[in-house]
Amino acid sequence: MALLEINALSVRFGGVAAVTDVSLVINSGEIHGIIGPNGAGKTSLINAVTGMVAAHSGSIRFADREIAGVAPHLISSVGLGRTFQHVELFGDRSVFDNVLTGFYRHQSYGLLAAALRLGKAGQSERQTREQTRLLLEAFDLTVYADTRAGLLPFGIQKRVDIARALAAEPKLLLLDEPISGMSEAEAEAAVTTMRMLAREHGITLVVVEHNMHVLMNLAERVTVLNQGRWLASGTPAEMQANTAVIEAYLGDAA
Ligand SMILES: Nc1ncnc2c1ncn2[C@@H]1O[C@H](COP(=O)(O)OP(=O)(O)OP(=O)(O)O)[C@@H](O)[C@H]1O
Ligand SMILES: [Mg+2]
Repeated sequence: MALLEINALSVRFGGVAAVTDVSLVINSGEIHGIIGPNGAGKTSLINAVTGMVAAHSGSIRFADREIAGVAPHLISSVGLGRTFQHVELFGDRSVFDNVLTGFYRHQSYGLLAAALRLGKAGQSERQTREQTRLLLEAFDLTVYADTRAGLLPFGIQKRVDIARALAAEPKLLLLDEPISGMSEAEAEAAVTTMRMLAREHGITLVVVEHNMHVLMNLAERVTVLNQGRWLASGTPAEMQANTAVIEAYLGDAA
């Protein structure tokens, strides 16, 4: 069943065509990779889906509702979450507090809700704190629980960001290069945990990534963008063998 249906989407910044005429269906429960060289429009696509930039044209349907043009906080409140390529944590707050805010669905009001002790419906603050502890453990973050998030290396902040996003239990989570800045071992552990929690909680994942090898182990299907346009979709193995995809990447390297 389609959870997200993007149809002929275009995003423009003045004269720059960031996304051009892209159509894409994400099915409920799948892990879908999006790859493409620098400037392919991956982040712009996520920004459009989450309402952070306006679509120039086209349609975005999420759980059978049109969401193009809807404000970001309303989009997140219907179960669409994201993480940022450059990480946006509350740098002065502890890792624990950052992940705790994830349990409060309207992320932009998270700290306020926390201050007012408004937990998830019917759930006490004590339960929410216990869940936060478990989530920190799952992502190997327990030792950093009391550390100010802004003081941590980028790769660890990325893990905090993923944990916080999963805490909100969105229906669909869009992750923008979630493992960049991590060592190979860190990345593997983070990907394993992410996949396990997503399956357990029925969270559909869209993972933007530069590196095809990472997606080989994570995604069931992959869509390749190039210069703002759809280039190909298929299994990771099919994409690795696709001539147009190889050319796009060779062009990027050259
Ligand atoms: N806010 C903006 N203002 C103007 N141009 C932008 C803006 N954001 C993105 N662009 C342009 O849109 C195009 C697509 O950029 P985007 O960041 O979506 O690519 P990307 O695939 O995420 O790249 P990367 O792999 O480097 O993160 C690029 O040409 C970029 O310069
Ligand atoms: Mg990007």
